[in-house]
Amino acid sequence: MKESRMQVAVVGCGYVGLVAAACFAELGHHVITVDNDQAKIAALNAGDPLIHEDYLPELIRRHHGKRLLFSMDLAGAVRQAQIVLIAVGTPADASGEADLSYVETATREIARAINGHKLIVEKSTVPVHTNAWIQRSMVFNGCSTSDFDVVSNPEFLREGTAVTDFLYPDRIIVGVRSEHAACMMKELYAPLLDGTYAQQPDAVPPPDDALAKPLYLETSPETSELIKHASNAFLAMKISFINAVSAVAESANADIEDVQIGMGSDKRIGTRFLRAGIGYGGSCFPKDVSAFRAIAQSCGCDFTLLDEVQRINQEQLNRFVAKVRKTLWTIKGKRLAALGLAFKSGTDDIRESPAINVIQDLLSRDCQITAYDPAAMERARAVLGNAITYAPDAYAAMDGADALLLLTEWKEFASLDLSMVKRLLKYPIVLDGRNLYTPKEMAAAGLNYYSIGRAPLELSNPTPGRVRTAKMS
Ligand code: UDX
Repeated sequence: MKESRMQVAVVGCGYVGLVAAACFAELGHHVITVDNDQAKIAALNAGDPLIHEDYLPELIRRHHGKRLLFSMDLAGAVRQAQIVLIAVGTPADASGEADLSYVETATREIARAINGHKLIVEKSTVPVHTNAWIQRSMVFNGCSTSDFDVVSNPEFLREGTAVTDFLYPDRIIVGVRSEHAACMMKELYAPLLDGTYAQQPDAVPPPDDALAKPLYLETSPETSELIKHASNAFLAMKISFINAVSAVAESANADIEDVQIGMGSDKRIGTRFLRAGIGYGGSCFPKDVSAFRAIAQSCGCDFTLLDEVQRINQEQLNRFVAKVRKTLWTIKGKRLAALGLAFKSGTDDIRESPAINVIQDLLSRDCQITAYDPAAMERARAVLGNAITYAPDAYAAMDGADALLLLTEWKEFASLDLSMVKRLLKYPIVLDGRNLYTPKEMAAAGLNYYSIGRAPLELSNPTPGRVRTAKMS
């Protein structure tokens, strides 16, 4: 890989900032990543990648101290950079709008440090018109418009596959106003645009469905900002749609898994993001749907469809908890095994995790929970503390439990030894919030099985799981 391409500063060491920084270093650029969290920077400098993300530790190891530096000195990083990426958080505020105060603070600090032309790239997910606000704020903070360009370049990476999503994207969207900014953005992404990155012998391997070259779309900043919010809102809508259909399927005695195949095989619909479950979670969909709802409203458009997307998502979770209650007859004092804490598989992130929400709902009904997750135990402990018990593995979690709940779609939870599950559980009951099994497999194992959008499997004469000897006093 050609070295010394461009000097880049990345502001913010969250998922987006960290992955972008490591990947731009991988593409040959020199990157300084800054954050005001001293503990984060110290951990990164000590070699801790902070997040559970495939290939990120390898990339950090490969480039740290050479083309990739971590620092708290924002002004210093900006002064050395031609390109400054803003990748700070944009959490939802109480009204559902995106809180842009971190973006504003970063902009102010960049303006104060400016020492020549800078290309400021907005990578955080932000509402339409943020680009124009950054521009205004730079001028208010003493910069001349000839000192900088502001570009919108949204990130579409998914947690768990963030590095490969970045290095083998479907599309790169660039919202620019000037020819000079457009040229710099093309140079920044050159190894992905001309396909040379993928040909490197030590390149991160491409996913099966990688495109030879991504779509590169130059638009206005407003269009680019809208593409990001509308994409996430659409995907959330697709999930809510299939979740609403799953409720109908349960009442109509239909099978949602076949409905998904039948619908998804229409190329116009597609099977991706059409999996029914206990609802979408994570740091993006919930926040972005409400932020997009709010920004549409401020543009004078009442996008009430998005209210329905959110309502269905909550209702899907409520229906699952109701199913647990109905299945167990009474749930107060019952001990339930929960497999899964992360908001989806492949990550240790528990933000807006449906699994955590189900657990919290059940805890409020005086259930006891023993949980296991291959990656998210530590993060869950920070939120749930001692309210639940943490098991060392999946089987330990279900040992003696009244029922098993499958809450996150980890691969290892889809290949459990079902005869062992039957032996360990007190009652042979499995409630699957992610449809990881077929009713047939469960029937063969002698387990009662309750899933999403499919008829319940209730064995007529269930043999109890583990036979326990009652203690007589
Ligand atoms: C999402 C977008 O996919 C990504 O493009 C954007 O940049 C950030 O937000 P991420 O939050 O990492 O990525 O998770 P994603 O894989 O999209 O899943 C979101 C949630 O939807 C998870 O809780 C997942 O379990 C759920 N989901 C996903 C379903 O319930 N059904 C599906 O079919 C797909």
